[in-house]
Amino acid sequence: MRLFVALPLATPARDALGALIAGWQRLDWPVRWVARESLHLTLRFLGEMPGESLEGIRSALDESAARMGPIELVPRAVEFHPARRARVLWLALEPVPALELLAHRLEQGLAGQPGMRELDGPFRPHITLGRAVRDARVPRAAFGVVAEAVIPDAWLASRVVLYQSELGGGPPRYIERHAVELRA
Ligand code: 2AM
Repeated sequence: MRLFVALPLATPARDALGALIAGWQRLDWPVRWVARESLHLTLRFLGEMPGESLEGIRSALDESAARMGPIELVPRAVEFHPARRARVLWLALEPVPALELLAHRLEQGLAGQPGMRELDGPFRPHITLGRAVRDARVPRAAFGVVAEAVIPDAWLASRVVLYQSELGGGPPRYIERHAVELRA
């Protein structure tokens, strides 16, 4: 099963980002927009994992999030990434210490799980808002529009969730397989 660990967004964050997305959707860029209810901050992408690994991953999540309170999500910028060959439009977040600590503890907890893939690179906290359609080029004008976006104020995230994602035709389906409340 395809798994990832993420912080889902609470309603105020979903509404703020949903409104931003709605404004851009009308401009008809070749972008597949993320549905409001699917917006999230990925802490760790696990990829295809055997069913037997679920129990170990759940405990790693429980231990890494234990005694942690809600985490502040502080928006920094809206950007196309990578800048030269825009594939994703994301809201970059400040790497606040609590977020880095949670990602680090999770990494330590997951180390040694059978079938764990390596990290792709350093943790760059962000919320993906849309993905460029395969082989399509995002128009230059879109960069200017995005650069003028009003950066939202900070929100609190109070849940960490292990999701299973089901791909197929249409948008991915995210199913909660485990959740931990962040309340110190
Ligand atoms: P994203 O937060 O950058 O969009 C579920 O598919 C989540 O896992 C996505 O939101 C995506 O991250 C992340 N993801 C999917 N495929 C990935 C990959 N090959 N490497 C790293 N992260 C991936």
